[in-house]
Amino acid sequence: MAPTSLENTVHSDSVLPLNGKGGVTEQVKENEKIELKLADEYGAPDSYLDAEKDTLWYHWVGSIYRKPLRFEAKSGKYVIVLKTEPHADLGKHRHRGEVQAYTVSGPWGYQEYDWTAKAGDYIVENPGTIHTLYMGAGSEVVFMVFGSIEFFNDDDSLREIMDGFSFWRMYLEHCEKHGITPNKKLWY
Ligand SMILES: [Fe+2]
Repeated sequence: MAPTSLENTVHSDSVLPLNGKGGVTEQVKENEKIELKLADEYGAPDSYLDAEKDTLWYHWVGSIYRKPLRFEAKSGKYVIVLKTEPHADLGKHRHRGEVQAYTVSGPWGYQEYDWTAKAGDYIVENPGTIHTLYMGAGSEVVFMVFGSIEFFNDDDSLREIMDGFSFWRMYLEHCEKHGITPNKKLWY
């Protein structure tokens, strides 16, 4: 959880945005106290996921493996990591929401674009874009996905629509198949 003690967050007037005369600083301090209490009452706690205990790698399609990091129940957002040992193609798809991607290891990218992502690269994909994903040998990417993704066949006909619920279902199916207790900590 975020620190909610003034002793831990406000050490002197110098860190406050307003430091004027006539009680402005005192008012800021009072507002800080009020807002810290609000955070305690209405805010959400911080989260920690142990990579070894709280989630797992499991097979998706072809040589692609995935690891769920977050199933966000209120917005439908989900965060997954994808990786592959050999080169893999995941096909053409269209986004209905934003995607943010952080590259743990490359190369990976989209056939339609002139860039190839390497370790440390950060990518934003916007709603309405259509592109064809490939993941090079040894690549690993964290995807934060909003909204649905429409996958297309080679003839551009619609093959499948996936969203956060699809990834919830596939994770739960994997757990059931292998006798694993689903980790409800992933829903936050
Ligand atoms: Fe995409």
